[in-house]
Amino acid sequence: MSIVSPVASGRLIVFEGTDGTGKSTQIRLLADELSRRGHSVIATREPTQGPYGQQIRKLYLDRGSCSREEELELFIADRRMHVEELLRPALQSGQIVLCDRYFLSTAAYQGANGMDVATILARHGFAPQPDLAILFEAPVTLGIERITGGRGDSLNDFEKVENLIRVSEIFAALDLPYIRRIDATQPIEAVRKTILSLVLPLLATSRAVN
Ligand code: TYD
Repeated sequence: MSIVSPVASGRLIVFEGTDGTGKSTQIRLLADELSRRGHSVIATREPTQGPYGQQIRKLYLDRGSCSREEELELFIADRRMHVEELLRPALQSGQIVLCDRYFLSTAAYQGANGMDVATILARHGFAPQPDLAILFEAPVTLGIERITGGRGDSLNDFEKVENLIRVSEIFAALDLPYIRRIDATQPIEAVRKTILSLVLPLLATSRAVN
């Protein structure tokens, strides 16, 4: 009789979309809800706080300080570290991982910066595929208004309007089986319920870590 090893039961749920669409608020609400329901949840984000993530944050202030190829390599290096140190171990130990941005952001943002989208996706063979990618859709101008008005922040070099329009066009064209699009112009509570209706069925099925 062969011994069958247990199937890892973790889930990877990623949150994608242009800036100011409310991803972080919804991640917080979902993490709280899932914890209350007894699940073991980790919320994390990219760019990370690691060495590459810190280099990336410096770029926000002066995007011209490196080439677009170097910029892409930094995001991929940051993700590789995140996968090895946090995402894969968490999934293998059965946790639900909520990740604020993942490789679809690289496809959209570095794609908008002139790099080839298909090549970017193909470079991510090392990264576990998400079980679910929730793509927040809202007009770019609304996101910008939320950043500058609501949060009182100024726009970084990635958040300039012409750039974000290109980013949102790439997001809109992505066609992958695990993507679900949501209308992020709705009130917070409506978005929260929609997200829960996408996530709960997923927790009832099992996953094989790739
Ligand atoms: P953001 O989610 O705003 O992080 P933080 O709030 O910590 O600053 O992401 C920062 C910017 O980085 C955002 O404008 C999108 C961009 N970005 C990329 O260009 N490529 C990527 O792969 C990722 C993950 C983010």
